[in-house]
Amino acid sequence: MGTLNNKVAVITGASAGIGRAAAASLASRGACLVIGARRVDMLQSVREEITKQGGQCVAVQCNVGRYADVQQLFAAAIEAFGRVDIAIANAGFGLFSRVHETSDQQMNEIWQVNVLGTWYVMKCAAGIMLPRKSGHIIAVSSAIARRALPQMGPYAMTKAAQLSLVEAQRLELRPFGIYVSSVHPTSTATEFFEQAGKRSGRKMGGFGTMQSAAFVGEKIAGLVERPRPELWPHRPTRFGVTIAAALPSIADRLLARFLDRQSVKMRRSRRAEP
Ligand SMILES: NC(=O)c1ccc[n+]([C@@H]2O[C@H](COP(=O)([O-])OP(=O)(O)OC[C@H]3O[C@@H](n4cnc5c(N)ncnc54)[C@H](OP(=O)(O)O)[C@@H]3O)[C@@H](O)[C@H]2O)c1
Repeated sequence: MGTLNNKVAVITGASAGIGRAAAASLASRGACLVIGARRVDMLQSVREEITKQGGQCVAVQCNVGRYADVQQLFAAAIEAFGRVDIAIANAGFGLFSRVHETSDQQMNEIWQVNVLGTWYVMKCAAGIMLPRKSGHIIAVSSAIARRALPQMGPYAMTKAAQLSLVEAQRLELRPFGIYVSSVHPTSTATEFFEQAGKRSGRKMGGFGTMQSAAFVGEKIAGLVERPRPELWPHRPTRFGVTIAAALPSIADRLLARFLDRQSVKMRRSRRAEP
């Protein structure tokens, strides 16, 4: 018996990376999955992987930037399984762009997907969970939600905005027995950096230690088993951002030094590329 037998989980952005890993981790604990993303071929391969392991999974094409798509995703969950116990707003992308160089179009796109896409999931999930007075809504935010970094301002803005929605909804839904949590990964080895690089026309690597998607996916499944307000898969980062919030001048100095060293390292490794 899995710890999540008969639980129904809806996950956006499950065709790759953290969403895909979270889907596999939840399915291995017995949850039924309803997965959404834009690339249907990749979604189908996730569905096949889960069903081969004996799990149940429905795949639905969904662009989270469109409310109607997110509504359809939840409608598919109700049609297939009759309920939704867990909703994970994971779909999102990054952008490497200085604040003053970001275009209107880039700003609107990242807001639409990362923030409104999360909000749509929170709305649909609450609508289904409130009458049953149970459920768990999770938004995959980022460590950067609590401390922005250079060239990541617009992305950090979306992650901070997600966190604000989560903090508010957590208290709004608490009297109704519904948990709302945020997840704050640090750099994770997924398509994220490649995709963000393509959108931004500039290459950037991760920041600090690189986690695996499987590790973060397992942590998310652990969060579902034991709900709490925030999940920080890399605990020292949580400590670091808390200190940074209390001592911003010192944090700026230390970060500037760290980022200088990191960019020297990146330039050297690029020069060494064949
Ligand atoms: N990787 C990191 O270092 C890192 C760190 C902190 C937080 N995060 C957050 O973790 C989440 C997952 O990112 P990841 O690292 O797993 O990146 P990823 O490998 O690029 O995966 C992103 C997922 O989101 C989906 N997606 C993107 N735009 C979408 C849209 N408009 N509608 C529906 N699905 C969409 C993609 O699927 P399709 O392209 O098929 O639609 C894909 O499944 C994101 O919210 C990201 O901000 C990542």
